[in-house]
Amino acid sequence: MSIFDALLQSHDKQRGLCAKIMQTKGDTTKRRQLHQQLMLELRAHAQAEERYFYAPLMFHDEGLEITRHVMFEHHQLEDLLREIDALDYSHSKWLVKMRQVTDMVLLHLHEEEEQFFPKAKEILSELQKQSLAHQYWDEYHKIYDAA
Ligand SMILES: [Fe+2]
Ligand SMILES: [Fe+2]
Repeated sequence: MSIFDALLQSHDKQRGLCAKIMQTKGDTTKRRQLHQQLMLELRAHAQAEERYFYAPLMFHDEGLEITRHVMFEHHQLEDLLREIDALDYSHSKWLVKMRQVTDMVLLHLHEEEEQFFPKAKEILSELQKQSLAHQYWDEYHKIYDAA
């Protein structure tokens, strides 16, 4: 498995959770569980991806601009996640806010997959593509285990 397979696996998980969460209505156990799962998934993915995908890319001139752009978006997303964390599950604006989260997530994933992954495939060595996948999962699971 390469780092790209690993990242895509996480991205697909996020898309699935986003779709399910948008079907929820009111303060239910299902909404709470899906919200907790999505927050953990987004945060574990962002941290592991920053450390074991984008950080190595930053060492290359062609990867610097991509990385800056992505870090900015991760930061924006984190701000939005904090906003929804602060909202009551039964709040009338909860689903509106979650729609903003899912829109931002889907746009971000699309941008990474369509624009940044092809560039990164040219930048990273074959050895790096393999070893980063292992490091990515180690970091990702470490965050899950600590949750
Ligand atoms: Fe990302
Ligand atoms: Fe990603």
